[in-house]
Amino acid sequence: MRTWTREEKYRILKDPQELLPLYEKISRSPWRQAYHNQAVTGLMNDPNGFVWHDNRWHLFYQWCPWGAVHGLKYWYHIVSRDLVTWKNLGVCLLPDPEDGYDNKGVYSGSAMPIGDKIYLYYTGNHRDADWTRRAYTCLARLGNDGWPEKYPLPLFGAHPDYTEHQRDPKILRVPGRDTYYMIIGAQTREKHGCALVYSSEDLQHGWTFAGQLRVPGFEAFGDMWECPSVEHIGGKDVLIFCPQHLTLPGRGGSRNHNGYIMGAMDWDRLVFQPDGQFHVLDFGFDSYAAACANNLQEAEKAILIAWMGVPDVSYPTDEEDWAGCLTLPRELTVRGRRLIQRPLPELKKLRDEQHVLTENEAGCCPLPPAAEIEVDCRPGDVETDLFTDAAGQGGLTVRYDEARREITVDRGGMRIPFNPEEGFSRARPLENGLSHLRIFVDHSSVEIFVNDGDAVFTSRVFPAAEEHFFRIRGDVFPRLWRMKNAVKEHFLI
Ligand code: FRU
Repeated sequence: MRTWTREEKYRILKDPQELLPLYEKISRSPWRQAYHNQAVTGLMNDPNGFVWHDNRWHLFYQWCPWGAVHGLKYWYHIVSRDLVTWKNLGVCLLPDPEDGYDNKGVYSGSAMPIGDKIYLYYTGNHRDADWTRRAYTCLARLGNDGWPEKYPLPLFGAHPDYTEHQRDPKILRVPGRDTYYMIIGAQTREKHGCALVYSSEDLQHGWTFAGQLRVPGFEAFGDMWECPSVEHIGGKDVLIFCPQHLTLPGRGGSRNHNGYIMGAMDWDRLVFQPDGQFHVLDFGFDSYAAACANNLQEAEKAILIAWMGVPDVSYPTDEEDWAGCLTLPRELTVRGRRLIQRPLPELKKLRDEQHVLTENEAGCCPLPPAAEIEVDCRPGDVETDLFTDAAGQGGLTVRYDEARREITVDRGGMRIPFNPEEGFSRARPLENGLSHLRIFVDHSSVEIFVNDGDAVFTSRVFPAAEEHFFRIRGDVFPRLWRMKNAVKEHFLI
């Protein structure tokens, strides 16, 4: 694996043409996606600034242009009218390498539209000459012409009572309150993850520290919380965050998680009172830094998009100098003490012609590189092997075991294994059995929605050329559609 020097990682992008050879190289990869947003070049990670404004959805992603490395980060801008087809708009927020508060990266954040502008709240990742890190919470204003205007001074610096790890402002308007809140991921001096709350009457000025969010029972849950947010969905409050550097039962050696706690948020006392345990948002391998659209005017649901990747691991495309894509947008609703996650209804527009399933002598059907498989299941065991070879060997196995009432996803059979330390399989109990699956396959990913949003498994997979068959066993009724393209390879910097 390539090692990057600090100079290479933090090299400033001066002339977009420098990226053209890289772009041409990665465009030839068999693993470029057809309907998932992916890095134009280099690496993408968190989705940022997800809002509806000026008749379209705006989304930005953390972007390092040079390759599969977490180096100098920019915000890259994409837009969509329907959250299905997307267009690249080019780089939006750039670090100011000279004396900027973000000289070593424009890190994650969120957005709020007011009038004809979108206000972008982000972390300025600053390093001194001796590489000491400081985090600043910064603001930029984006006009309809697409040009951001950065405010010359940050809204505030890092709070002195916490470590240097303070980032990812999520700006919130709480129904019934005149005050705006901002939630920031942080680490206490005792190295525990936490969230800090800032408030202001005005989006542009007067931000003051309101306090640390108390979450009884979660005082020592991971050593840093990234990308925290408090969402209000279906009359419930939901704390969504990414606790780092802890292992959880059933999650292999994975040390970075994205999950949520249902509960009640008391904005006056800054207490989030949990009503239940921490749940992972996604049972698969590759999902992190999930962000909800900020101004959806719907009381019962939220729309969520996540980075289809996790920190501190590597992917086979690293060798091709690119990494990362986003998940499909999901509709979040609340059922009891759980979040339900369904693919957005609009995604059905992507279905192209329905395939007649014809099995070869090994019982395998061809699996197009971009496909959706919907399966109605009757009681009993079900097994589907995706990305097998023509003889039905290998691939990724989705197995429902009726006796144990459990579904398992195992990618250990793929010809190109990666991240063995994360483990190869993930399981989830299904108390009420398996009735339905919707499986979204793109060139290098699979998202498996179980029982109409009850659970989702999201994973990258990197099939070898011969791994393009699938088979399914059980009392099932499967249908398969080819999927249309929804993202264009478009070199726009
Ligand atoms: C999460 C994260 C954020 C940070 C950003 C940098 O993946 O580490 O905490 O702002 O990525 O790209």
